[in-house]
Amino acid sequence: MKVEKCGKSVDIAYWAGKPRPVLYVHGSGFDGSLWFGQLKEVGGYAIDLPNRGFSGEAEIESVEDYAFYVAKVAEKLAPRIVFVGHSLGGAVVQRLYLEFRRIVKGLVLVGTGARLRVLPQILKGLKSKPAETIDFFINYSFGDREKAAGWVEKCRKMLLERKSLLLKDLTICDKFDLLEDFRSGKVKIEAPTLIIVGEKDRLTPVKYSKFFYSVIPGSKLAVIRGAGHMVMVEKPKEFNETLSKFLSSLQV
Ligand code: COA
Repeated sequence: MKVEKCGKSVDIAYWAGKPRPVLYVHGSGFDGSLWFGQLKEVGGYAIDLPNRGFSGEAEIESVEDYAFYVAKVAEKLAPRIVFVGHSLGGAVVQRLYLEFRRIVKGLVLVGTGARLRVLPQILKGLKSKPAETIDFFINYSFGDREKAAGWVEKCRKMLLERKSLLLKDLTICDKFDLLEDFRSGKVKIEAPTLIIVGEKDRLTPVKYSKFFYSVIPGSKLAVIRGAGHMVMVEKPKEFNETLSKFLSSLQV
């Protein structure tokens, strides 16, 4: 799908499951293929953010830039959509809500936070010793690496092929910060919101999700046992059940 920004047209790709107004947004360095388990069982669409997968190249400097492309794709898919964002994708859907709320039917914040500071050793290490740092990052991402072995390798391979994009995405995460705005009430999410986090998430700890739960009125919080940051691939059954229940409650 073509999206125009500042006079430049960029092709933005998405994967489709059974038709349902749900759009999944992946995290740093990944692409829409991470959501295959959800597309198959729950349905909806999974975007490849610019500069990866089947999407074209675009100038991206911030979460706002990504949110623009996601919103423009969503507008062409359905009048109102439930946005499911993981990690960086969770920051993107928060920003999208603030700027394009008329198209938001609901939000699902997965392993994400209102502020996403990144360990300095990850940002530095990706420049000086990328392979070692990606191993560290992957180890940090899964609750139980042995149980999720297939996904661990798939994710490692994907990130090794996209070292500089991973660094760029994580640098963008590091700057993302709505924490004080949520605390002061300057930023408020009024859309129906489901918060999902893996009990063993070390990149965006449960504390970040509990914070959302405390500031988003009427939100629901699901802490998935045994899962880490990659909760949707680590525990797809539990994840999909939780998501499906939320979507049914919205009659989506
Ligand atoms: N929601 C709620 N609370 C948050 C938050 C969020 N999204 N982000 C930070 N905070 C809290 C912290 O828990 C901390 O609280 P405390 O003072 O009670 O301990 C406080 O705000 C300050 O935290 P932070 O801004 O992160 O700075 P820091 O110097 O304490 O820590 C890091 C910096 C990088 C060590 C830390 O952010 C971290 O461990 N991040 C997770 C690892 C990572 O790299 N994740 C990648 C995310 S994409």
